[in-house]
This record gives sequence, C-alpha cells and structure tokens, in this order.
Amino acid sequence: MTASESEEPLLRRAVCPGSFDPITNGHLDIIARASRLYDEVYVAVMINKAKQGLFTVDERIALIEQVTEEFGNVRVESFHGLLVDFCKQRDIPAIVKGLRAVSDFDYELQMAQMNNGLSGVETLFVPTNPTYSFLSSSLVKEVAQWGGDVSHLVPDAVLRALRAKLGRD
Ligand code: PNS
Repeated sequence: MTASESEEPLLRRAVCPGSFDPITNGHLDIIARASRLYDEVYVAVMINKAKQGLFTVDERIALIEQVTEEFGNVRVESFHGLLVDFCKQRDIPAIVKGLRAVSDFDYELQMAQMNNGLSGVETLFVPTNPTYSFLSSSLVKEVAQWGGDVSHLVPDAVLRALRAKLGRD
C-alpha cells in the first residue's frame, strides 16, 4: 500500500534531542524552527546517568513543556537509551540539531553518521541563530551560579527556576 492509499495521513515527525539542563533560548529557537517544518516535533530529554544535572529530568520536562506550549505541535518526553531506539519506537525518521559553529560539526557529524548507520534515521542540521552561537546550558549555569545576568539567554520560566535552584531569588 502506498502512503497516499493508506487511511492515516502521513505525519512528518522529527525529534530535537538533548540534555536540556536547562533549555536555553538557543534550544528554543531550534525547536521553534523545527515545529514550523514538521507536523509533530518530539523533544527528547536524553537521560545520562553518568552526568549529575542541576535540574531533575522532571523539572527539565516541565520547563520545556511550559516554553513550547504555544507552538501546539511539540511533545516532550524523556528517554534512557539510544536516540535511534527512541526514533524507532515512535516512527520518527528525522533528528533536527542546531549547529553553533564549526567546532560542533566534528562530533555532530560522527553522531549523525552513527545514527544513520544504526537505523537509517536522518539528521538535519539547522544553523543556530548567530545571537546564540556562543550559548550552552553549561555556560548559562556557570554565569548564573556566580550571579551573572542570563536573562537574555533563557526563557523567563527558566530564569525563575534557575534563581530558585541557586538560591538567588
Ligand atoms: O545536549 P547534549 O548533551 O549535547 O545532547 C547530546 C545527546 C543527548 C543528543 C546525545 O548524547 C545522544 O543522542 N545521547 C543518547 C544516547 C545515544 O544515542 N548515543 C549514541 C549517539 S551516536
């Protein structure tokens, strides 16, 4: 049966994976752009038990849900395992990743090729908005920890959560 003959309309699905500890404006920009390109976008909070995060996985999910709610086609889930298995279980053919700079490219290319070799899933790279080309969750946490201003780098809900977490209300 071809896609046009099937009863279910074919949904164009993609996943934006990451640690999101916490989500930044850079992540949000990529998710927003993916949500305009695809019918359904999954945000996968990948669990890395070797990494102690600042926010719990549930806190990260709650923040991402809050700041992506307006897009209307974004679902947020956590996953412990291989990203390709997350994709396989949900019939997701594409991974969308932001590329900040050439320095991101080497590792991202390796992961894209590994994921494609493992399962055939494609990776699409979106050039990061230059405003956020230096931005990472780690830097946001470090600056916030020392009382620096990160209000232009994260959504308001994340800023409030960071201040509460770091005792800087
Ligand atoms: O936000 P991060 O920490 O840079 O995201 C990296 C992440 C979580 C996307 C990557 O480490 C990943 O896909 N992990 C899931 C485990 C996996 O599939 N590993 C093989 C990658 S080829």
